[in-house]
Amino acid sequence: MQIPKNSRVLSGIQPSGALHIGNYFGAIRQHIALQEANDCFYFVANYHALTTINDRKTLEENTFMVALDYLALGLDPSRATLFVQSDVPEVTELAWILSTITPMGLLERAHSYKDKIAKGISPNHGLFAYPVLMAADILIYDSQYVPVGKDQKQHLEMTRDMAEKFNHIYGETFVLPQEFILPDVAVVPGIDGQKMSKSYGNTIEIFSDYATLKKKVMSIVTDPTPLEAPKDPDKSTIYALYRLVATPEESAAMREKFLAGGYGYGQAKKELLEKLWQYFEPHRKRREELLKNRDYVVQVLREGAERARAVAGEVMQRVRQACGVVRYRS
Ligand code: ADP
Ligand code: TRP
Repeated sequence: MQIPKNSRVLSGIQPSGALHIGNYFGAIRQHIALQEANDCFYFVANYHALTTINDRKTLEENTFMVALDYLALGLDPSRATLFVQSDVPEVTELAWILSTITPMGLLERAHSYKDKIAKGISPNHGLFAYPVLMAADILIYDSQYVPVGKDQKQHLEMTRDMAEKFNHIYGETFVLPQEFILPDVAVVPGIDGQKMSKSYGNTIEIFSDYATLKKKVMSIVTDPTPLEAPKDPDKSTIYALYRLVATPEESAAMREKFLAGGYGYGQAKKELLEKLWQYFEPHRKRREELLKNRDYVVQVLREGAERARAVAGEVMQRVRQACGVVRYRS
């Protein structure tokens, strides 16, 4: 499926730690590409992160860094609206209103909630109500398309359920958002060969120093096939990662070497390391500039918040009017 041009596209990114190359190839790259032809709203979901992060400094720092990294990776603030969730506090008002029409059963069925319980995490109400806040994030900007990973599919379905129910009770108020599940072609493996994820501790960060990157790449798990023997590139994490950052010709050349034998994993890792380092070089440079110019990032977030707030304000007026939540103050 393609998103029609000029659509309102929205997505949220949790500031739960340094961004890794799975995030980049699985989501960020597509988010940034969508800015060319659409009206994109991207925000750092810091209210959501509060359900799991309970440290002021960590939350503040992560929130700022995710925004800065998006800019370093190519987000253009003259095309897309980048902001922090808490700069539009109306979203929590909408979350409350939506919660009054959300059946308990709907939230009890949420996979993300059930998974966390299964892991033994003692749930707070915020974690339980997480999908309601996420629905508010989406509906408050009249979002038409929400590009997210497969793991968020159920949250999108719940958002539509809430919007439909509200529209049914109070009349047409919300735009029904469409999910846009980011193609699974780029499920990026981590250094242990499983899906790269912060929760598995197997990530390769987009922005780290060379020594750290080297350590990560060199610790990619490989099988004990001897150096001389031919190797299957399609079973190799090294090759899977290399393909993401090399040209098709370079990938084909590595493939040949795997199949021919006499090519060790150590050598392949070195080639991967160099390509990875080169691939993110321009972004790393841009990031260094941004780090020296934090005021610029703050300015971008201020302007983003203004734009987002203007839309949220209009939608909230519609919502309050629809359900009879009065405001006497001017
Ligand atoms: P993590 O699993 O590290 O906590 P998140 O769930 O915060 O990552 O990921 C944010 C988005 O990045 C996801 O919705 C998904 O689209 C994308 N993503 C994360 N890890 C990968 C991966 N290994 N391969 C492809 N996409 C990924
Ligand atoms: N739940 C999303 C995640 O963990 C982040 C998020 C919060 C989001 N609000 C959103 C994504 C609204 C899309 C739209 O990745």
